[in-house]
Amino acid sequence: MESRIQNNSFISKVMPASEAAALIQPGMTVGMSGFTGAGYPKAVPLELARVIEEAHARGERFAIRVLTGASTAPELDGALAKVGGIDFRLPYQSDPELRARINRGEIEYMDIHLGQVAQYAWFGFLGEIDLAVVEVAGILPDGRMIPSTSVGNNKTWLDLAKKVIIEVNSNQPAGLDGMHDIYYGTALPPDRKPIPLVTPGDRIGEPYLRVDPAKVVAVVETHALDRLGRFAPADDTSARIAGHLVEFFRHEISRGRLRPELLPLQSGVGNIANAVLTGLRDGGFEGLTAFTEVIQDGMLDLIRTDTMRVASATALSLSPEGVEEFQRNIDHYRSRIVLRPQEMSNHAELVRRLGCIAINGMVEADIYGNVNSTHVAGTAIINGIGGSGDFARNGFMSCFVTPSTAKNGAISCIVPMASHVDHTEHDVTVIVTEQGLADLRGLSPKQRAKAVISQCAHPDYRPLLEDYFERASRDSAGKHTPHLLGEALSWHQHYMANGRMR
Ligand code: COA
Repeated sequence: MESRIQNNSFISKVMPASEAAALIQPGMTVGMSGFTGAGYPKAVPLELARVIEEAHARGERFAIRVLTGASTAPELDGALAKVGGIDFRLPYQSDPELRARINRGEIEYMDIHLGQVAQYAWFGFLGEIDLAVVEVAGILPDGRMIPSTSVGNNKTWLDLAKKVIIEVNSNQPAGLDGMHDIYYGTALPPDRKPIPLVTPGDRIGEPYLRVDPAKVVAVVETHALDRLGRFAPADDTSARIAGHLVEFFRHEISRGRLRPELLPLQSGVGNIANAVLTGLRDGGFEGLTAFTEVIQDGMLDLIRTDTMRVASATALSLSPEGVEEFQRNIDHYRSRIVLRPQEMSNHAELVRRLGCIAINGMVEADIYGNVNSTHVAGTAIINGIGGSGDFARNGFMSCFVTPSTAKNGAISCIVPMASHVDHTEHDVTVIVTEQGLADLRGLSPKQRAKAVISQCAHPDYRPLLEDYFERASRDSAGKHTPHLLGEALSWHQHYMANGRMR
């Protein structure tokens, strides 16, 4: 293990996770590493959960505010949520235990664009960061650190936190060294300068994270795998969604609006976005690039086959098979993947300059093109907005993909009015289901409604939507975006009462 900690000052601070966890006090705001199940601290949060449980058994109140990069894993979010150890959490999460407690109203959760978390912290909007707990793959002799499988907000937590606990995970591949690009040129307004990145593969910073050694209060050695899930295999539905997108991209190329190598792709989290990339691999494209936040198996496969020549992201989120492939061919991937802080991977300036093609999953869209990415029936959160908004608003175009129905047809993913809006009609250019693709560019609300209903709705729900739109167009007070306000959310109410929308 010593070869992973090559700095004497850090070696002198090595201690068991239980001792490090004891340094965390009730009420602290703690910035932790971790992004989509990768690169989160694996020992200290588990020990902290034990400390909190014991405190609660003694009748003492003990909870902290947890800030991360994005979702983590049961060893962090799950363990702390289970013992009632989280007061407040941001941003994106996906742990079932944490989600359940948020939806029971026991934990305050702030869902925020992933590209904005770091600047919120720098602006002072999140209060003081008392402590950072950050996983790294190694510490160099000069004290700089090799980031692990995610960068997330680590640079910000390390810079802003008053104290720092480092977890050095010897299970993280040594071959990660050199894959990262940490940009230290950020500043606060009005002193900000343009970010000097003009192509997705540009390296504008340095491969290592820095920390003031005086702030480091503990170094903990771990040897644990990232806890990664599996993706649902591509099925007929996802293949049809991918097929519609491929056809659309070909059409755009033939019209001269896209080049054959497209523009840098951003692909969101989840099964559907993952499966769409498999469709792109089979679609005959070459020389693709990505400027995205997370690399899932589908994108790794594009890089493996050289369909994609370079990908910029902030994290890897691979299945166990994906991890094996990544480790086996890590030199191939290191020359094609750049991992950056999420304030860079999701930066509005960069997304707009590069002209990203955003492809994100969604929960539902309404007939006018408003998209709900986060809430079931408007009130219960699934995961969070993640980076979808960073890319949807600023990209060259913004595609949202979903099967036309959910829960075996009980739910229509195309509804009269979205029960929660993450992406407004102004940020959505293309909606795709297995039924077809609605190109909303240049259309008015009523024109969009006709396209969404005819192209995307499931045949079981299409006549109902046509009927709603027809009556709304006749009876709505305002005829610009016709709605029957007493009825617009009745599909969701019916689902809550009867378990189905029809
Ligand atoms: N109403 C209720 N539940 C719905 C639903 C709807 N309209 N649409 C989907 N769901 C449920 C599915 O039934 C499934 O539930 P299950 O896990 O109990 O089976 C779950 O949501 C996931 O749906 P799935 O069809 O497998 O899609 P996915 O894995 O592609 O995930 C999102 C879809 C919306 C949850 C996911 O894309 C997400 O979290 N997006 C927000 C963050 C984001 O876009 N980040 C992008 C930047 S990386």
